[in-house]
Amino acid sequence: MAYETIVVDVEDHVATIRLNRPDALNALNSQLLGELSAALTDADRNDKVRCIVLTGSAKAFAAGADIKEMSEKSFVEMFLQDFFGHEAMTITRVRKPVIAAVAGYALGGGCELAMMCDFIIAADTAKFGQPEINLGVVAGIGGTQRLTRFVGKSKSMDMHLTGRFMDAEEAERSGLVSRVVPAKKLLEEAQSAAAKIAEKSLLASMAVKEAVNRSYETTLSEGLLFERRLFHSMFATDDQSEGMAAFMEKRTAQFRDR
Ligand code: CAA
Repeated sequence: MAYETIVVDVEDHVATIRLNRPDALNALNSQLLGELSAALTDADRNDKVRCIVLTGSAKAFAAGADIKEMSEKSFVEMFLQDFFGHEAMTITRVRKPVIAAVAGYALGGGCELAMMCDFIIAADTAKFGQPEINLGVVAGIGGTQRLTRFVGKSKSMDMHLTGRFMDAEEAERSGLVSRVVPAKKLLEEAQSAAAKIAEKSLLASMAVKEAVNRSYETTLSEGLLFERRLFHSMFATDDQSEGMAAFMEKRTAQFRDR
């Protein structure tokens, strides 16, 4: 499918989706969110794809929801359309692992999009923020909820109330990103992490996602039970037999997602 606001490339079992509205610092307008939603759904269904990397440009992962598109909307329109309630959330329904590779600005909806990925690798140029307060509004794609879970109440309040930006070093220190790499190496590092994930059993990768994400939704005892049952269920798969046999035979496992 031909896209105008994103670029999709599939190589070696890794789909790389690059946000591509350079004139608007990749601001998330309806067209981009629709195309991103379609590309993510395609990648999730494509048997050749085992991991997804979502990235932007050197200057901006995404500078937020498109302010020009939103500025004239009324409450009634926003409410009736359930604005940001559908395509903006597709990424949370993707079952394959998704890595955000963030350079430059990840602000408002851009920060929220990165947080909906499974983990974030940041370039040393990355700047995260939830500056919606400067526009007289509040975050709308999960910022108040997800950032708080990542960095705790105090820093989340600071970010949302002052609208200040957090650099990559602070983001790593606060647990928002998993690693920081030099900007020039960002895509290489993210794609190499994705290639490593792509070598694993997809069944196990999907189970990891379900289990970790469940920890946000449930109590510890229910989460532990959910994880243990998932662990038990892996013993119904060929990949478990292959993984454990390969360990004992001191060879590399050949997973077949069965
Ligand atoms: N929406 C629409 N257009 C945007 C945009 C956005 N979020 N961010 C940047 N742009 C556009 C600018 O309007 C400008 O376009 P023009 O040349 O046509 O004027 C172009 O991108 C380049 O931007 P700047 O000239 O402003 O670049 P800069 O380097 O001087 O500043 C910046 C960069 C600090 C990121 C600044 O652009 C900025 O503050 N952007 C807005 C950030 C923001 O408020 N994001 C939150 C949006 S609301 C939201 O996301 C709600 C939600 O939770 C769902």
